[in-house]
Amino acid sequence: MNSIDDVQTALAEQDYVCGRALATVVFLALRLGRPLFLEGEAGTGKTEIAKAIAATLGRRLIRLQCYEGLDASSAVYEWNFAAQMVAIRAAEAGGQTPPDLFSDDFLIERPLLDAMRPDPAGAPVLLIDELDRTDEPFEAFLLEALSDFQVTIPEMGTISAPEPPIVILTSNRTREVHDALKRRCLYHWVDYPAFDREIEILNARAPEASEALSREVVAFVQRLRTEDLFKRPGVAETIDWAKCLLALDVLNLSPDVIADTLGAVLKYQDDIQKLQGSEAKRLLDEVRADLAEDG
Ligand SMILES: Nc1ncnc2c1ncn2[C@@H]1O[C@H](COP(=O)(O)OP(=O)(O)OP(=O)(O)O)[C@@H](O)[C@H]1O
Ligand SMILES: [Mg+2]
Repeated sequence: MNSIDDVQTALAEQDYVCGRALATVVFLALRLGRPLFLEGEAGTGKTEIAKAIAATLGRRLIRLQCYEGLDASSAVYEWNFAAQMVAIRAAEAGGQTPPDLFSDDFLIERPLLDAMRPDPAGAPVLLIDELDRTDEPFEAFLLEALSDFQVTIPEMGTISAPEPPIVILTSNRTREVHDALKRRCLYHWVDYPAFDREIEILNARAPEASEALSREVVAFVQRLRTEDLFKRPGVAETIDWAKCLLALDVLNLSPDVIADTLGAVLKYQDDIQKLQGSEAKRLLDEVRADLAEDG
């Protein structure tokens, strides 16, 4: 991919709608070999873009899903103790000397080590997803791993990546990620898309939806995002909702339809409650008026 336009076109072929600003950081991350740090609300396409980039480049996607308590051993490698025990017992029973217990046969590769292995297709895409769920010690560890792309296994020696992986980190910003880690990366805030772009995304992901239904769904979800909600709906919810409506053969929104299908859009009872009674109708009327105004 030789230009920002190339990035946009290639991602569009994967049904990923990428704005100019995001395409620019993706282009630069690939060109400069820098990790890309994507922060933003839930369901705005952060994970999906890593998949789309890997598919576009024909690279393997390796995903390290972060969670509270994730430590270096679960991220890099572990020894298969059970298999080692079996090998020892089998050797003892047969009166033989046990095999080398610290060889590839007993090594369980976790995503970071996997991402450093040579790959004929080229360096893989390493997605470090939802980094904000881990803790600071793990971040410090990652910082080191991302700076030299090598892993030392005391029993085996140092393994280094022949070509550094393409690294994409994501965060929902439930906490701030440390500056030192961010400094290594190119940063982009993934916001909710504007109306036209969200229509484009819906056209790519739910092409069966009519233009009229798409416009209503997107406008309504966009309107919901301006409400005081516990959890605002992401693009994922827009797509889900449209698919639910299609499955129900709905051609246009109505207060009843909204009430019946709101669970596709809002995932907290408190939020759903806010749209009870005449509230859904009020919002829908507003949305319709805006749509009529914009032609
Ligand atoms: N720009 C986009 N182009 C195409 N599809 C998109 C886009 N943004 C979001 N989507 C769709 O929304 C869904 C959710 O996106 P994704 O899982 O990447 O969100 P996320 O930002 O990783 O959310 P979370 O923070 O909850 O993990 C995807 O399956 C994809 O279909
Ligand atoms: Mg995600």
